[in-house]
Amino acid sequence: MTPTPTKDDRFSFGLWTVGWQGVDVFGGAVRPRLDPVEAVHRLAELGAAAVTFHDDDLVPDDATRQATLDRFTKALAETGLGVEMATTNLFGSPVFKEGAFTANDREVRRYALAKTLRNIDLAAELGARTYVLWGGREGAESGAAKDVAAALDRYREALDLLCGYVRDQGYDMRFALEPKPNEPRGDILLPTVGHAIAFIDTLDEPDRVGLNPEVGHEEMAGLNFAQGIAQALWHGKLFHVDLNGQHGPRYDQDLRFGAGNLRGAFWTVDVLEGAGTDRRYDGFLHFDYKPPRTEDIDGVWESARACMRNYLLLRDKVRAFRADPEVAEALTAARVDQLAVPTLADGETLDELRAETHDLAALGARGMHFERLDQLAMEHLLGVR
Ligand code: GCO
Ligand code: MN
Ligand code: MN
Repeated sequence: MTPTPTKDDRFSFGLWTVGWQGVDVFGGAVRPRLDPVEAVHRLAELGAAAVTFHDDDLVPDDATRQATLDRFTKALAETGLGVEMATTNLFGSPVFKEGAFTANDREVRRYALAKTLRNIDLAAELGARTYVLWGGREGAESGAAKDVAAALDRYREALDLLCGYVRDQGYDMRFALEPKPNEPRGDILLPTVGHAIAFIDTLDEPDRVGLNPEVGHEEMAGLNFAQGIAQALWHGKLFHVDLNGQHGPRYDQDLRFGAGNLRGAFWTVDVLEGAGTDRRYDGFLHFDYKPPRTEDIDGVWESARACMRNYLLLRDKVRAFRADPEVAEALTAARVDQLAVPTLADGETLDELRAETHDLAALGARGMHFERLDQLAMEHLLGVR
């Protein structure tokens, strides 16, 4: 079986992913710079539908800004690729060493906002409807260095100002916060999906702000990504997603999607496809990964192709799992359907509920049959069903 991605699959890639030159904390570039125009053409050939960018990935330099944009929009027109999301680099420059929207230094915060507003204008011009905010430098390494409550006040102030700007400009654009527990800061503010959802509730216009959860970031914190995005969907907050791979709690690996925690990837696709529920993610399937430093440019395209291919392979597996009559039977045996039934019936009183008698020995002895259900998933994943 050779699943081939098409534009209908709505796959997208950050220019910084395939364009990563391999600079890490221990070594310099291993690959030459990749021209964004070349990236657009190659990703289109591979079957992607859109690209995304940080301001600095695309227009690092004012002197060449217009010429770069002209070449870039021409490549988009030639390939039919869209720009679905954009974001600001608020982490690379030494200016942001202590944060951006929540930097202690007020001048840094003002510059961060101005830099973001400028790129929001470009994002709107290029048709992006999602604007991601990843606060990689918003945090601290030591306790007294950051007043967390004041930092959250400033974070909220920044979001309120940005929402107001987008509203006043009439841009069709929503913001998506990307949680991460640590790296590059020792501890980052809004470290998980849950923290970010709670924060959004405090904003002036919470409807304009949702999440861009990343597989590896939740797994770095030892959390279950599929459960995290299921809750984000439940809140109506899954605006975007960063798909990649991670081997448990360690540094941010940004592996290609499907590498690392493969079973986690299976359940991630299950949630995104809405299998077994009436809630389905309908946004772009965005890959935010880093082609390993071991690869030359051919390996880069191989890994990009593999991200999409792994998603499609897992989508087939998930669909087959959900369509399997034995799985339907196992789901019923596991009483998964009962969870959709309200605990108190319509019109029933708590007195009636309290009056009910239970055979606790029998109740406690009832098996849940989860092992059979999970083994069926495993066998679909292993390709033996
Ligand atoms: C990471 C992050 C980043 C952000 C991106 C958007 O790997 O730590 O995922 O890649 O997603 O920079 O701002
Ligand atoms: Mn990451
Ligand atoms: Mn990301």
